[in-house]
Amino acid sequence: MTTEPTTAARFSLPELAAMKPRGEKIAMVTAYDAPGARLADEAGVEMILVGDSAAMVVLGHDSTVPATMDEMIVLTRAARRGSRRALLVADMPFGSFQLSDHEALANAIRFVKEADADAVKLEGAGPTLDRVRAIVGAGIPVMGHIGLTPQSATMLGGYKAQGRSALKARGLLADALALERAGCFSIVLEAVPAAVASRISQSLRIPTIGIGAGAGCDGQVLVWHDLLGITEGRAPKFVKRYGAVAAEIRRALADYVAEVRSGAFPGDEHTYGIPPEELALFESELDAGVLVGAEDVRGSGSDWL
Ligand code: KIV
Repeated sequence: MTTEPTTAARFSLPELAAMKPRGEKIAMVTAYDAPGARLADEAGVEMILVGDSAAMVVLGHDSTVPATMDEMIVLTRAARRGSRRALLVADMPFGSFQLSDHEALANAIRFVKEADADAVKLEGAGPTLDRVRAIVGAGIPVMGHIGLTPQSATMLGGYKAQGRSALKARGLLADALALERAGCFSIVLEAVPAAVASRISQSLRIPTIGIGAGAGCDGQVLVWHDLLGITEGRAPKFVKRYGAVAAEIRRALADYVAEVRSGAFPGDEHTYGIPPEELALFESELDAGVLVGAEDVRGSGSDWL
């Protein structure tokens, strides 16, 4: 296992902002642990999101709502250990920012102090705008998230595309502009018609990150398990699977189980030896009825590597 230090220069917000006018697309992916963040970082993503999607894809819940601050802190801290260059954005879970500006700021500070996050993400506009101002005012960068906001999916009538009427599209644009004015450095647009997301992106100075929002956004984000094909079966329309990792895991595990059962694993190459004279002595002592487990031999035989 590699344990390289995480001291390389991190990607900065000015570097991110400069990509939009140059027309350079931003790549973002979720990650929830150190090995995943390390692989994402090595692939060159500009941002890693420790999404509250963890509640579903890691913790096995049916929605993102149950994710807690303590869980998100553990996952963010793990991702931090793996990521060197990418900006690390921590998703503020449901209940961590809704109650008051004070609580929102306190929880954002936890992400920065306890998990070394570079930024936090908050869903919604409206009342969220004050939270954004409070957090940004304290010097913590905030990413917005509008369109389909899973934490309020029930209010939105389910996991549906948003902004599909002129009125709703205008509302999304107004929300995006308000989030930009409130100080967000970027906004996620989720499940928004491509034409609407494109117009919103053109209307903002800050970059938009799309998920199910078409190619006109300034960047894209996908959930780790969706992208890699760890989740299987029916996926949202906007998911593209770049791998079939679940099938590979299933194959490897089946091979392992079969080899354990047949005795093919472990082979000699996975097995520790003992010098022949020591083995002969050990066996002759046993044959002679020497007691094993006496205090004077205990603890002197560990040889792990
Ligand atoms: O929680 C998450 O993974 C997200 C992305 C889908 C943007 O919010």
